[in-house]
Amino acid sequence: MTGADGATFVLRDGECCHYVDEDAIGPLWKGQKFPLTACISGWAMLHQQPASIEDIYQDPRIPIDAYRPTFVKSLVMVPIRTAAPIGAIGNYWASRHRPSTEQIELLQALANSTAVALENIQVYQELEKRVVERTSQLEAANRELEAFSYSVSHDLRAPLRAIRGYSTILSEQNAAQLDEFGRGMLERVVRETHHMGGLIEDLLRLSQINRRELLVGPVNLSELAERICQTAAQAQPERHVDVVIAPELIASADKGLMDSVLSNLLSNAWKYTGKTKGARIEFGFSPGADGVPVYFVKDNGAGFDMAHAQRLFAPFQRLHTASEFPGTGVGLATVQRIIHRHGGHIWVEAEPGKGATFFFTLPRKEETVA
Ligand SMILES: Nc1ncnc2c1ncn2[C@@H]1O[C@H](COP(=O)(O)OP(=O)(O)OP(=O)(O)O)[C@@H](O)[C@H]1O
Ligand SMILES: [Mg+2]
Repeated sequence: MTGADGATFVLRDGECCHYVDEDAIGPLWKGQKFPLTACISGWAMLHQQPASIEDIYQDPRIPIDAYRPTFVKSLVMVPIRTAAPIGAIGNYWASRHRPSTEQIELLQALANSTAVALENIQVYQELEKRVVERTSQLEAANRELEAFSYSVSHDLRAPLRAIRGYSTILSEQNAAQLDEFGRGMLERVVRETHHMGGLIEDLLRLSQINRRELLVGPVNLSELAERICQTAAQAQPERHVDVVIAPELIASADKGLMDSVLSNLLSNAWKYTGKTKGARIEFGFSPGADGVPVYFVKDNGAGFDMAHAQRLFAPFQRLHTASEFPGTGVGLATVQRIIHRHGGHIWVEAEPGKGATFFFTLPRKEETVA
């Protein structure tokens, strides 16, 4: 742009000028370092202003010995970021040349935008560093929390077993000494210990998902869904549910964990259609917008108000009372964790009285749908 015969890009490196790059008709000083006080780029940085030299052999700021082997007769050097220079850009001419004000201004404008770009890079690098730091802090906190909830729930099992054991002994051996009220109370204690036991087991399972390694391989989701629905139908032969499962949906995932995902979603669909006439459950997929298949489990059961949709994926959050539909509220938290571990997403669409559809993705590259 300036019509020069060569250009250098210099970065300040402590008390030195580092000639980082050059593009010229002959070799200059690429890769070399000079003290700030002993070269013209240093002068431009220290004085925070351009240096324009028509005859380098007449200017005392020029270290002549460094220039003698080069083609340079005239030059302009401008600092990058005038306020606190971090480098300089030089232009050189092989024949005597008096750089015009426009040329100097153009070069300074170029140096200014270089400064902005360099500052942006610094900002991005700083941000990236912070993201990495925060992520590892968060991961460490999560691991601690998981270890904590694992050991708490694990340790709760022993005293609970004892309570259950003593209450059972009491109800078996001392039932005669208790009146109706006492026996009823004891029964409730035993029932609640079973309930608490279930909660503890759920918590243990939940905290173990992130602890174990993913064993990824081809998984026939259709087969898993088929088996899960058959088991549910056998357990409740009185129910008539229209089950539709798309054939041969093969995903690349952890089979054991996908079994848990589909068990939870399909057993929810099964449970929440329990009071629906003409109950229908569907497991299928649609090709997503970005080529990642979107799997779904759809039912026409109780549904819920979408205003609470986000809460569902947190542990122990339930939208239906235990008397309406039983459960502990851990199923979907487990499902979400597993999907996230596979790098996927899960979301839901529902309407009260009309049913719910849970969608999820498993965006692994090697995924194929046969
Ligand atoms: N298919 C569905 N239709 C309607 N509501 C649903 C459906 N699936 C989940 N929900 C709502 O989301 C809540 C959380 O579901 P989640 O599976 O986590 O717990 P749960 O089924 O209550 O208990 P469990 O831990 O035994 O699975 C449920 O209590 C219910 O209110
Ligand atoms: Mg459930």
